[in-house]
Amino acid sequence: MRRLDVLVLGAGAAGMMCAIEAGRRGRKVLIADHARAPGEKIRISGGGRCNFTNLHTAPDNFISGNPHFCKSALGRFTQHDFIALIESHGIAYHEKTLGQLFCDGASRQVIDMLTGEMRAAGVDLALATEFESVEPARDGFTIRLSSGTYTASSLVVATGGKSIPKMGATGLGYRIADQFGVPVSDTRPALVPLTFDEALRTRLKPLAGVSADAVVGCNGISFAEALLFTHRGISGPSILQVSSYWREGDEITLSLLPRTDLFEQLRQARTANGRQSVHNALSAHLPKRLAHILCDNAGVEGKIADRTDRDLKRLAQAVQDWRIKPTGSEGYRTAEVTLGGVDTTALHSRTMEAKAVPGLYFIGEVVDVTGWLGGYNFQWAWSSGWAAGQAV
Ligand code: FDA
Repeated sequence: MRRLDVLVLGAGAAGMMCAIEAGRRGRKVLIADHARAPGEKIRISGGGRCNFTNLHTAPDNFISGNPHFCKSALGRFTQHDFIALIESHGIAYHEKTLGQLFCDGASRQVIDMLTGEMRAAGVDLALATEFESVEPARDGFTIRLSSGTYTASSLVVATGGKSIPKMGATGLGYRIADQFGVPVSDTRPALVPLTFDEALRTRLKPLAGVSADAVVGCNGISFAEALLFTHRGISGPSILQVSSYWREGDEITLSLLPRTDLFEQLRQARTANGRQSVHNALSAHLPKRLAHILCDNAGVEGKIADRTDRDLKRLAQAVQDWRIKPTGSEGYRTAEVTLGGVDTTALHSRTMEAKAVPGLYFIGEVVDVTGWLGGYNFQWAWSSGWAAGQAV
C-alpha cells in the first residue's frame, strides 16, 4: 500500500490544474486516468486550437442550481491568471470573437504546458490506469487502482461529465458521489445540437448546410450568434447556447436579420423593382433556400408588386420571429458538456470539498456548474481545480 497526500482521479483540465497547485505546495500527488494520454478533451477542443478561456468570464455565464456557487473559485483564479500562465509559457493566442481566446497554434501546447508544470511540481502521472474502488480509511481514503492500492488524505474527483463517451467519459464521478452520500442533481447533455421530428425534418431538409446570423431565444434568454441547419435539426453556436436552457416541449425563437428593419427594406424593394418575386427580394438579405422556406411559412409569395404592406409585415415577422419546436438533442454523443452533476449545496465553494466528507473534493465538469459556449467551461475547470489545489 502506497501512501499519498492527494490522489486526483482524472487527468483532464481540472485534475491537472489541481495536481499542479497541490504539488507546488509540497503535497505528494498522484494523478490517475484510464486514458492513454492526459487532456484528451483539451486536445480536441476549439477545433484543435483550444478555446482555453474567455476574457469576459463572469458568474452570469454559468448555469447551476446555485448561481452564486462559482463566484469564489472564479474570483480567486481568474481568466487573467490563466492567461498569465499561458503567456509565461510563450504560447501565442488570439481573440476570435466575443472574448473567446484560442491558441494560434495547437491545443497540444496547452496540454504540454500542464504536463510540464505537473513534472516541475513533482506530480506523478499514471495513465491507462483503471479505478477499482474507494473506501474511507482512518485518515483519508483507500483507493484501489489497476496499478495498486493507495491511501490518500485527499481524494479529488475530476472525472468530468458524461459527454462524448467515445473519449473516455464514464460518469464515475457521480457514482463516487453516490457512494459517499453526496447528492447529484439530474444530468442532461448541453451545448448540443437540437433535432426535429420527422415532419419538420422533411420540411426543412432543403436547408441542410445553410447558416445565418440570428438571435436565438428560449426560456427568457437569447444569444446572438450563427445558426446552422443540419440533416437532423439545427446547430451552430447560438443553438448550442440555448440548448442548455431548452427542455422537451419548449419552442425556440429564431430571429433572422435581427438588426434590420426588414418591413421597410421589403417596401423599398417593391418600389425599386415591383416585378421581382418576394423571395428574390428576401434573398438579397438571406440565403436563397432559407428565403424560400420563410416566404412559404408566411404564405407570402409571387410578384412583390402584388403584395400589400400587411403581407410584407407578415413576412418580416416570419423572418424575425420564427418559432420552432425541436423534439430532442443529439445527446451525449456530441454534447460538449453535461448540465447538472454533483450538487453544489453539498460542497464548500472556496475549496470544492464535500461538506459531509472531509478530504473528498469534486472539481470541473462533474460539479453542477456549466458554462456557456466560448471558453467558460475550461475556465471553470482551471478555477475549481486551482481552488481545490490550495486546500488538499
Ligand atoms: P475532462 O472530461 O476534461 O477530464 C476528465 C478526465 O477523467 C478524462 O481525462 C477522463 O479520461 C478521465 N476519466 C473519466 N472516467 C474515468 C474513469 N472511470 N477512470 C479513470 N479516469 C476517468 N470547453 C471550453 O471551455 N472551450 C472549448 O474550446 C471546448 N471545446 C470542447 C470541444 C468538445 C468536442 C468537447 C466534448 C468539449 C469541449 N469543451 C470546451 C468542454 C471542456 O472540454 C470540458 O468542460 C472540460 O474538459 C472539463 O474538464 P474536466 O477536467 O472537468 O473533465
